[in-house]
Amino acid sequence: MKIGNLHINGNILLAPMAGVTDVSFRTLCYLQGCSFAYTEMISAKGLYYNDKKTKELLIRGEQEPYLGVQIFGSDPDIMAHAVTYLNTLNVDLIDINMGCPVPKVIKNKEGSALMKTPELAGKIIKACVNASTIPVTAKIRLGFDKQSVNVLEFSKLLESNGVNAIAIHGRTRSEFYQGQADWSYIKEVKKQLSIPVIGNGDITSKEDMDKRIAESKCDGIMIGRACQGNPWIFSQLLGNSKKPTIEEKIQMIIDHYKLMVEHKGEIRATLEMRKHASWYIKGERNATKAKNEIFQARTISEMTKAILLLK
Ligand SMILES: Cc1cc2nc3c(=O)[nH]c(=O)nc-3n(C[C@H](O)[C@H](O)[C@H](O)COP(=O)(O)O)c2cc1C
Repeated sequence: MKIGNLHINGNILLAPMAGVTDVSFRTLCYLQGCSFAYTEMISAKGLYYNDKKTKELLIRGEQEPYLGVQIFGSDPDIMAHAVTYLNTLNVDLIDINMGCPVPKVIKNKEGSALMKTPELAGKIIKACVNASTIPVTAKIRLGFDKQSVNVLEFSKLLESNGVNAIAIHGRTRSEFYQGQADWSYIKEVKKQLSIPVIGNGDITSKEDMDKRIAESKCDGIMIGRACQGNPWIFSQLLGNSKKPTIEEKIQMIIDHYKLMVEHKGEIRATLEMRKHASWYIKGERNATKAKNEIFQARTISEMTKAILLLK
């Protein structure tokens, strides 16, 4: 797939997910064949004010072939400032979040609230594109709510302001993550735009992916929840039908934990591993026993022992 001046090897993307797609998880997904990955959403204001915690989210792993940084905000000047800064780093693409449904974000007219203010959204894209030599993309929803679905006009407006690709999550803001993603709109946008369109929503298998691409003719797809505790989904989407054995699962959890310790230190990694481990071990024979210990672990050796209880 080609986005602006960037050639991407493949069309299976890892969706940006706050609290999930940090450098450690992105690395594991790339090793399983993911074509392109984004950071979690990063505050443009945080970058503007030089916030240390915000900047930590920009760390790129040694094994990451590409890095897409997703930013959010609603002030075109502050967004352009963030883009100018990101252009000085080792970043391949900047994505603008226009889909986040969280009330705190909406209140500031950011995320999916921008779908209610298309003119402002267009200004943001224009300011970001003008400030960037690397591609600028946007991730949007179908609209703010069922009554105001505007994905088609909105996509066209962003295209006319110079955006290099659009990813569409086939739900409205009001739906959050409920119900079924509606891919008919993704098909329609693809028909009417010249830039690449990336479809997103509810893909959990190769069958889903093949069907969605065939029907919508979208240029790429994005995987969100289906990769939580399951980075193997990328190799499965590429045709590997083998399910991971429990030994492979344990090894993946340990690799994930090691990377997190490397990037976040023992205390944070041990705490944050709880969530990931719960996803990995769901449905496994010794899950309850292991989970109890994982949630009590405080050190690397306690966490490692707890993970090994899955055997
Ligand atoms: C825990 C979580 C965090 C998310 N964070 C972001 C985010 O930071 N930026 C964004 O654009 N979308 C975010 N999303 C939305 C996903 O990128 C994706 O659009 C959505 O999950 C639908 O895809 P799926 O059905 O494959 O999960 C998040 C979703 C989840 C479940």
